[in-house]
Amino acid sequence: MKKSEALLERPMTQKGAGTMKALVYHGPGKRAWEDKPRPVVQDATDAVVRITTTTICGTDLHILKGDVPTVNEGVGIVEEVGPGTTRIRKGDKVLISCITSCGTCAFCKKGMYSHCTDGGWILGHLIDGTQAEYVRIPHADTSLYPLPAAADEEAMALLSDIFPTGFECGVINGQVKPGDTVAIVGAGPIGLAALLTAQFYSPSEIIMIDMDDNRLAVARSLGATRAVNATGDKAVQEVLSITEGAGVDVAIEAVGIPATFDVCQGIVAPGGRIANVGVHGKPVELHLEKLWSHNITLTTRLVDTVTTPMLLKLALSGRLQPRKLVTHHFLLPEMMKAYDTFSSAARERALKVIVKKA
Ligand SMILES: NC(=O)c1ccc[n+]([C@@H]2O[C@H](COP(=O)([O-])OP(=O)(O)OC[C@H]3O[C@@H](n4cnc5c(N)ncnc54)[C@H](O)[C@@H]3O)[C@@H](O)[C@H]2O)c1
Ligand SMILES: [Zn+2]
Repeated sequence: MKKSEALLERPMTQKGAGTMKALVYHGPGKRAWEDKPRPVVQDATDAVVRITTTTICGTDLHILKGDVPTVNEGVGIVEEVGPGTTRIRKGDKVLISCITSCGTCAFCKKGMYSHCTDGGWILGHLIDGTQAEYVRIPHADTSLYPLPAAADEEAMALLSDIFPTGFECGVINGQVKPGDTVAIVGAGPIGLAALLTAQFYSPSEIIMIDMDDNRLAVARSLGATRAVNATGDKAVQEVLSITEGAGVDVAIEAVGIPATFDVCQGIVAPGGRIANVGVHGKPVELHLEKLWSHNITLTTRLVDTVTTPMLLKLALSGRLQPRKLVTHHFLLPEMMKAYDTFSSAARERALKVIVKKA
């Protein structure tokens, strides 16, 4: 049986624990904040977490089918644990990782939690997610991170997904080094998380590319050395002129469409790396007729969240400030309003929308 079938076969919730409010999709564009049975511990290694802070991410807007309340980012208080849970305790304040990992399968042992044979990207995808009052977390010991009681929940909630994604898929896979020239295509929350974490390595130049001038201005305020508006077809030319024809050492693709992958192919310098982060729905054209001789590396990755403990330390110390991406606040019962705002992100100038327990 495939992993997805095994997970879907289990009932998502059981009767007897009462009801809760959750965001439920009823098909494209049809979402509702409605009553659902409250999740309970099903497996010995589960925990049930009461959500205190959650957020909405770009991928949520794409998950429009089925009856699955999303998504996978958040902070909460552990309400109940299964008998097989040894590290996570009732009452703990925890960060919920967007990737569930068993910690023992061959992929987990390699640090590839995203491909865990009994987990991976399942929250808000194959099982109910965190845009609800309560969520069931499988493999709680290895999928939840205890937080100090005084931790800034809003900052921490951004460490569930966007920061490990920008860092692992973009900066680490792109092997950003001191002095490198880096270009990030896409100044959404993930591109901006890559921008903030790339600075751990002191690149000499970080060029941010987007079509949204507001997001480019935010990028400049967060450390981008240059901003290129990609409207029209001049982005490649502009980056080449900024780099005096050389191109960039690292091109991070953080949009997920053929046009932006093409920009990366057009600007990568000989010996450079293209780190793809975007989730692609369509094929792209790989220009080997040009790149075969350019000694480039192309990487892809589903976020593993192996760097979450490190990012947590940096955020707790203030060295990393995820909060800089927060633009809007709502309370859980206002979830529909939060979605409306996020759906018009450009008009509303929204980056990360935080939704908190009332
Ligand atoms: N690999 C992973 O594990 C992983 C995890 C989470 C999200 N993602 C993906 O990362 C990508 C970015 O996520 P996000 O939440 O920041 O998305 P987002 O939609 O908020 O941001 C995308 C940005 O790209 C810009 N853009 C669109 N077309 C462009 C173009 N032609 N040229 C330049 N800029 C353009 C938009 O203006 C926007 O600012 C998405 O594809 C998302 O699905 C990947
Ligand atoms: Zn595993």
